[in-house]
Amino acid sequence: MAEETEKWRKACSISGAALDFGVALIKKGAAVIEVCDAVDSKIVELGAKPAFPAQISLDYVAAHYCCPNEDSTILDRQVAKLDVGAHIDGIPGDTAATVDLSGNNAELVKASRNALNAAIKIVKPGVKLSEIGAAIHSEITAAGFSPIRNLSGHGIAQFELHTKPTIPNFNNNDHTELASGQIIAIEPFATTGEGIIVEGTNAEVFMQISHKPLRDMTARKILEQIETYQNMPFAKRWLMKKFPAIKVELALRQLQQLNSIQGFPPLVEKARGLVSQAEHTILVTDSGCEVLTKTG
Ligand code: CO
Repeated sequence: MAEETEKWRKACSISGAALDFGVALIKKGAAVIEVCDAVDSKIVELGAKPAFPAQISLDYVAAHYCCPNEDSTILDRQVAKLDVGAHIDGIPGDTAATVDLSGNNAELVKASRNALNAAIKIVKPGVKLSEIGAAIHSEITAAGFSPIRNLSGHGIAQFELHTKPTIPNFNNNDHTELASGQIIAIEPFATTGEGIIVEGTNAEVFMQISHKPLRDMTARKILEQIETYQNMPFAKRWLMKKFPAIKVELALRQLQQLNSIQGFPPLVEKARGLVSQAEHTILVTDSGCEVLTKTG
């Protein structure tokens, strides 16, 4: 158990370091794809693997914007959310931060960060999930924004980025209590919009959920590559670096039809409000909690 806790600390500290590294690259004129590729490489350089592709979601896109193979998005005056995860032997960290390049949305960025801090402050064995949600909600609404209610934090486990419990961003009346030893990710989102996200189109992130064989020779090679990701989310463009784009599209379509992989399209704020996010992975301890992805 102690050995496993050490692995969590290491995977999470690499996640945090890669997030800091990426945040420093978020500047006017930088290409989103270059920042994301640099973060993914940094994770490997630090001795882990990406638990999911680094993603930068801009403005009204709340999460899950993953660059296609030839992405031309350039950072300019957006609200940029960077979401990063590293894993060691399947033990993942999950952490996110927001950079305001507009110069006008510092309060929005602060709202999700303050909400995360308010939640962390009350985490200890016996705290109810509804109390964490209420703390997040009150911090964000006091700042004049809305929390996104249909996005939430989550339990996190080996080879399972999202598991029980759901950590709400509002008081959802779930009186389940946290216990010592639990590891969770808390991720408040604040928005100027309605506080609801809807799924966009064109997933660029996928995850294998079951093994189904493919017949075509190249498709089989692509599937072998997908299996090296060990049921953790991967970017379509990772495959396109190794195989012809048309073959990748075909293989992914076949695997989706077989329900062997799941796609994660971008999540868009319904009223197209601006969105900020902050996230940490946290270990509940006997006396409170340890913020595993915290750096500095
Ligand atoms: Co998360």
